[in-house]
Parts: sequence; structure tokens; C-alpha cells
Amino acid sequence: MRLKDCHNFSDFRRLAKKRLPGPIFHYIDGAADDEVTYRRNTEAYESVDLVPSVLNDVSEVDLSVEVMGQKLDMPLYCAPTALQRLFHHEGERAVARAATKYGTMFGVSSLATVSAEEIADLAPGPKLFQFYFHKDRGLNDALLERARAAKFNVMALTVDTITGGNRERDLRTGFTSPPRLTPSSLFSFAAHPAWAWNFLTKDKFDMPHLSGHVSQGTNLAVSVGEYFTSLLDQTMNWKDAEKLCAQWGGQFALKGIMSVEDAKRAVDIGCTGIMVSNHGGRQLDGARAPFDQLVEICDAVGDQIDVICEGGVQRGTHVLKALSVGAKAVSGGRLYLYALGAAGQPGVEKALGNLRTEIERGMKLMGVTSIDQLTRDNLRWR
Ligand code: LAC
Repeated sequence: MRLKDCHNFSDFRRLAKKRLPGPIFHYIDGAADDEVTYRRNTEAYESVDLVPSVLNDVSEVDLSVEVMGQKLDMPLYCAPTALQRLFHHEGERAVARAATKYGTMFGVSSLATVSAEEIADLAPGPKLFQFYFHKDRGLNDALLERARAAKFNVMALTVDTITGGNRERDLRTGFTSPPRLTPSSLFSFAAHPAWAWNFLTKDKFDMPHLSGHVSQGTNLAVSVGEYFTSLLDQTMNWKDAEKLCAQWGGQFALKGIMSVEDAKRAVDIGCTGIMVSNHGGRQLDGARAPFDQLVEICDAVGDQIDVICEGGVQRGTHVLKALSVGAKAVSGGRLYLYALGAAGQPGVEKALGNLRTEIERGMKLMGVTSIDQLTRDNLRWR
């Protein structure tokens, strides 16, 4: 199987599984507990059907949207994800270049493996910084100021990782960052010599936003769950979020909002966006899927704040359904991460290109020529 054979999400997943050592693949592929929420995130899209309209002259369609003040050429962007150089040696650089090519936004994590400054130099387009609220207030200030100096356009405070999710696949494989060498992980790395060669010979693994502040996640091997549980500040509350929002002073989102009450509070504290998200099913298993929760949230705050539906998206039609309900854009991690692991920048470009083509084709078949023509009138719940 090669990149040219990757026509959809499952194809990229299959290729990534072949190319990545087991612990790395399962870190991306896995979720919390029984992974019920993870599966529902995608299945939720099947509880709604599209009702197309015809004879509308769809020879020209405009996929662009404006979300949190950013003009995007398509209504889908790359959600921030951690540790990308573990998946491919170019990591965040590959994702930044691919997203730029498609005129869309991408997120850079506090736990990124390429610095905000380097990313800013190579990607002039809209960029989001994903903020984790650490106990170390010096680190928090440094993160914010670094993102500001690098001219990131959107700041997103992650609110659904107050403690680590139970990622049992990581427990079984012993996944840590940086990878800890155990007999079984060594075997898996040796069985993937191309990955191992790149990991050992390219730039040394580093998490530049954290180095100089904490040793976890840089030279001390920890699991992501341990990182969240030990380094993030569990006292984080609405006052902290409000303060951060004011300190940033620009486009500011809460990432991981699921309840209507919280969505309203996000508006009250001055946020300009929310990501309706359960962290790809990686935190609270049994939580509702973002798409299932989208109607209530858009009804409550959709006219006051930009609502982004995040997680579970595998098809262009999923994007059309979320936009029809009222989301301003859609984002996801795995939708480009398998492609990154499978083939680096060309992989991410192909994944984004496939989705873009699907969105455009879906719009034509739905009989709409611009995103604002997608409304709930063209949806029916089963
Ligand atoms: C995860 C974090 C790092 O889900 O976003 O693994």
C-alpha cells in the first residue's frame, strides 16, 4: 500500500499502522477506557441525513469561511496535536506547510516538537496556539508571550485535560514521550527501521516550549496521562480562564466545551470561540459526541460566539452536516495525523486535498454554492 492508494481516512490509518512502531500508532489511534466516545464521535454523523436540493447551477462553489476573525479557504482546519515529530521527522513543519498550501488554519500545541517561532517563519497563514494551563505560572506566561511574539492569531485554552484520561493502549504499549526503550518497544522500533533511522538521525527530540521550564516531556520520559496529571493545574477555574483571555487580548477560545452552561460562560468571560470537543474521545469515555451536542450549543450561543465542531470527522459530508447545524468550522486531529505518520507533508496534503474535494463535491450534490447556504433545512434526524 502506498500514498497514492490513500483515498480516505481508513486508508491513511492502514498505511500509518504499517509505517509506525506500535506504541506510536496506538498513541494516535487509541482513546480512553472502552473507546465508546471515540467511536461515537464519528457514528454521530450517521444519525442525521442530508436532504439535497437540485437544479441550482453549482458550477462555481465557494468553500471559504471566516472563523474567529480568520479567513479560511475551506471550512476545515487541523486541530492542534502534541508530539508530531514522533509521528514523522518533519512533524509540525509538515502540517504547517500542508495547511498553508490549502489556505487553512492549523493548531500548534504547547507540547509541540517544533517551536512557535520556527512555525511562524514557515507558515504565514492563520495559526492557533493550544495552551495548557500548568502549575508553573512562569511557564504559562512564557507560553502566552511566545505565541504573541510569533504572531499566532488564535489562542485556545484546553479545558478538558484537567487530569489524564485512561489510555489503556498506552499503558499496554508503554508509550512515553520521548519513547522509553523497553524490550517490546525496541522490538517494535527495530521492525520499523525507516522510522527508527529518522528518529535517531534527524534533529534530536525536543519540546521547545517546555524546555527550560520542566524536565517532563523533554528529557524525562512520561506518558501524556502522567504529564496532564502531574503538571497541569487542577485548580484551574473560570477566573483563570477569564484572566488568560484578557491577558491574551485577542481571539480566544475554550477547547473542550460540551455543556450549554459552559458555552454561555465562555461568552460571558469574553471568548470569541469554543471548540465543542471531547478531546477525540481520549479523556472522559462515555462523554457525548461533539456532533450530538452541537444543536443545543449552537441554539444557545451560535449567534454570540464562533462554534467549532471538533472530533470524529472522517468525510466531507460530516463537515457539511456540522456546518448545517451551525458550526462555523470543523477541526480534527486524526484526520491528518495518520497521513502525517504515513507519509509526512505529502501525506497531510493528500488528506486535506481529499477532504477538500469531498466537501466541494458534497456541496455541489447538495445544491449549494456557499457555506452559508447550508442550514438545518437540509438535514433530517433519523
Ligand atoms: C493527547 C494530548 C496531548 O490527547 O492532546 O494525547
